[in-house]
Amino acid sequence: MQINSFEEYQETYQKSINQPEEFWAGIASNFLWKKKWDHVLSWNFTTPDIKWFEGAKLNITENCLDRHLAENGDTPAIVWEPNDPEKESITLTYRVLHEQVCRFANVLKKNGVQKGDRVCIYMPMVPELAVAVLACARIGAVHSVVFGGFSAKSIADRINDAACKVVVTADGAFRGNKQIQLKEVIDDALIGCPTIEKVIVLTHTRTPVSMLKGRDCWWEDEIKLVDSNCPAEEMDAEDMLFILYTSGSTGKPKGVVHTCGGYMVYAGYTFSNVFNYQPGEVYFCTADIGWITGHSYIVYGPLSQGATTLMFEGIPTYPNASRFWDIVEKHQVNILYTAPTAIRSLMGFGSAPVQGKDLSSLRVLGSVGEPINEEAWHWFDEEIGKKNCPIVDTWWQTETGGIMISPIAFVTPTKPSFATLPLPGIQPILVDEQGKEIEGNGVNGNLCIRFPWPGMLRTTYGDHERCRLTYFSTYENLYFTGDGCLRDKDGYYRITGRVDDVINVSGHRIGTAEVENAINMHAGVIESAVVGYPHEVKGQGIFAFVIYPGLSKDEELTRKDILQTVTRIIGAIAKPDKILFVSGLPKTRSGKIMRRILRKVAEGDTSNLGDISTLLDPAVVQEIIGKSRQL
Ligand code: PRX
Repeated sequence: MQINSFEEYQETYQKSINQPEEFWAGIASNFLWKKKWDHVLSWNFTTPDIKWFEGAKLNITENCLDRHLAENGDTPAIVWEPNDPEKESITLTYRVLHEQVCRFANVLKKNGVQKGDRVCIYMPMVPELAVAVLACARIGAVHSVVFGGFSAKSIADRINDAACKVVVTADGAFRGNKQIQLKEVIDDALIGCPTIEKVIVLTHTRTPVSMLKGRDCWWEDEIKLVDSNCPAEEMDAEDMLFILYTSGSTGKPKGVVHTCGGYMVYAGYTFSNVFNYQPGEVYFCTADIGWITGHSYIVYGPLSQGATTLMFEGIPTYPNASRFWDIVEKHQVNILYTAPTAIRSLMGFGSAPVQGKDLSSLRVLGSVGEPINEEAWHWFDEEIGKKNCPIVDTWWQTETGGIMISPIAFVTPTKPSFATLPLPGIQPILVDEQGKEIEGNGVNGNLCIRFPWPGMLRTTYGDHERCRLTYFSTYENLYFTGDGCLRDKDGYYRITGRVDDVINVSGHRIGTAEVENAINMHAGVIESAVVGYPHEVKGQGIFAFVIYPGLSKDEELTRKDILQTVTRIIGAIAKPDKILFVSGLPKTRSGKIMRRILRKVAEGDTSNLGDISTLLDPAVVQEIIGKSRQL
């Protein structure tokens, strides 16, 4: 399944385009199926309706666990590095992980979870999180993992949207020198969640928590009451595997749905190729399982390939900025996959934290989540890779399920800040605003994909029309990514960032409309407008323009109140970096906010604001510019 030379890549790519069904059937035959497919692909991008491997039966956990037992049962599946470096790390072999997953799957069953039921998982980065995810898949329940940084309200919205039956959580989480009271957040969330019947709580921080009789039970007690025999549920290739909520330009986050067969094939194939994973290697992805990167490239991709995947509970700067490099040295990490934001933040500490660390085990470096600037790329290459490790800059999305445009390690010649070339099976196309294809090289356009791939989303949970509108209606017969993109003279792709109202803060996708709604919920706020601006470490920062009449002298306190409101409504990750109080917003006569102007102000570049003659009240702009200079 692995591609070993650039010529082989080119041949494979051609085949994948000319005979996609044959190509993917060949890849899929490397996986374990209870029954093979009747038909490889049926699709249209209008409804949309996409089916891969129709008629096939499988269970993804048999691919991630059972099939490795005979020969690799004693191979480490998960190596866990705790937040506190003084604490022991934990290794779960494939045999032990299999046993724990089966046991916890029986716990879920005992608590009433059946095939097709939705389970919300809100946990710290501990091995039990991976166990809970796989246990759901084992019995055909649909997991919906919610990142530990979201607020009670965000969790409640997600639980209600998916009508989840059970929550799996922990008492608390450690993050650097902070503790997060997860169970308390869940308790707040569940005040408004009538569908939840049971809450299973893992002991981790051992902070006092309230345990509601009849609803809440301890993980540790439950696993004692079940055995470890749990046959894998037979799933259709197109049965739902999980839901993962993600932000868009409008409304509440939507539940992106991935299905069993295609997702498994795509996550496994891309993992094996992009990182050139070799048996026995230790692979470390620094993401959180609460995001798609963790789903595809901590859990499903690596485990489907029998890899050793390292899970890290903490943050890159705790107890100090050497932590990643200490982990690489301690566990002899061979492949390191991280985000530009982490690289930039560590780069800020200079080379001292890297000095004296043995990074010689590293073979491949990866980047994901946001555009990587050249400076960060070179720092990663020189300081960490010692100019000896290929960097795979992987472009993809929650919706794509796996990596789409990326170098293949040791195969594709890299170029700083370029995601380079499409992986086999991926057909990118650049279009202009009208949807007309922009051909040739040395061009810019909106990035779309014109042919299905196995890992793509199938729908948005409970609202198929929203899926159609968001991804398939902007341009006819194309999947629209929401990203702008450059194709250079060599045909290499460079992602330039979102072209919609989504901002990418530290690799996290945040909808401006969502932040505006949260700010507007603050008493006293009349209206707000949120835009992104370049931020040295986070990639983009959040800039909020807020109309708040009757602002008292203490602006700073009101600012903090607004931040608190956003934290309550969405979570700390959506807090604006800057708030500017204004008396009006630049609106056209039809009432539309001219965000272009606000973006310029946020960037601090007000020299050329373009045509503002269509504004209802052009004087507003002068006021905003004046105030922004004082911020
Ligand atoms: O704008 C692109 C950016 O992240 C968006 C997807 O975010 P999310 O669904 O949260 O998934 C992140 C992890 C896959 C994309 O629309 N993005 C992701 N990877 C890159 C990137 N931008 C530039 N270069 C990348 N390598």
